[in-house]
Amino acid sequence: MTEYKHIPVLYNEVLTGLKINPQGIYFDGTLGGAGHSEGILKRLTTGKLIATDKDNAAIENARKKLADYADKLFLINDDYKNIIGHLKKMGISALDGILLDLGVSSYQIDTPERGFSYINDAPLDMRMDTSQSKNAYQVINEYDERELADILFNYGEEKYAKKIASKIVSQRKIKPIESTLELAELVNSCIPPKERYARGNPAKRIFQAVRIEVNDELKGLKEFISEIVIFYLKKGGRMCVITFHSLEDRIVKHCFKELETDCICDKRLPMCVCNKRKEIEIITKKPICGEKEADINKRASSARLRIIERV
Ligand SMILES: C[S@@+](CC[C@H](N)C(=O)[O-])C[C@H]1O[C@@H](n2cnc3c(N)ncnc32)[C@H](O)[C@@H]1O
Repeated sequence: MTEYKHIPVLYNEVLTGLKINPQGIYFDGTLGGAGHSEGILKRLTTGKLIATDKDNAAIENARKKLADYADKLFLINDDYKNIIGHLKKMGISALDGILLDLGVSSYQIDTPERGFSYINDAPLDMRMDTSQSKNAYQVINEYDERELADILFNYGEEKYAKKIASKIVSQRKIKPIESTLELAELVNSCIPPKERYARGNPAKRIFQAVRIEVNDELKGLKEFISEIVIFYLKKGGRMCVITFHSLEDRIVKHCFKELETDCICDKRLPMCVCNKRKEIEIITKKPICGEKEADINKRASSARLRIIERV
């Protein structure tokens, strides 16, 4: 990864939201272009930052970009959902703050050969972790029609999901669908001209859906947040989560609501039997939206930041 000019989304809001303790231990689960990580490191004195990314290119980029902070930075090329195992090995039992800035990085989208972009032609790939075997080519050329339609509908919220899945299946009987532009053109051809650009480029929704499937983006997100918050986030510690689409935002929102809820016993019971306790305070009653940054950073337009504090 060559040094990449990159603008972190909701940068000030995240750094203020984390209420950084200069001596604290922080975890950035989604390092990406390392913009937020750099901001955290700048605010640490004796504190430490542990950062993960599934994409080794992000890790290697950060190793160079953040070389001045090497004494307080621990880079791990892994899924953030595996962090607890790493924390145990490092002897770390509590965190002062956690950041998840979910989804793909600008670098991944803007590097055509990674196959995330529907604007540039490239092989269908879309893997964040380039060592994993499942890629977009397999999803598009090997999944059955029903599975494809479900993925396009559920992860892309695409009303023409069935039609697109059916066209993919008939097209690949003639020849495999190999490139991003082949897929983008096929998708466009399934949407009636009058509606084609009514909700933006339809390829955007389909690429989002395939990408979520390739990288298993939603699986285990809720469980991960609950576990890391309950067992690792220190009292008074903050967690910031940025999402870029409503499915993911809904998961985060419901997870935070559940963690904030106190006893859930039937009110008619004389005493609590559920033992459910409020674990967090939701700091952002409504998410902080990135729309105002859209002029300088197009990706920010769909960003939503939710912040909680451990109680
Ligand atoms: C939106 S970018 C993060 C940008 C970053 N906050 C910055 O300031 O540059 C998301 C990054 O998270 C990584 N990622 C997504 N899901 C992941 C997961 N489950 N585990 C580890 N990294 C993940 C992606 O590879 C990508 O590099």
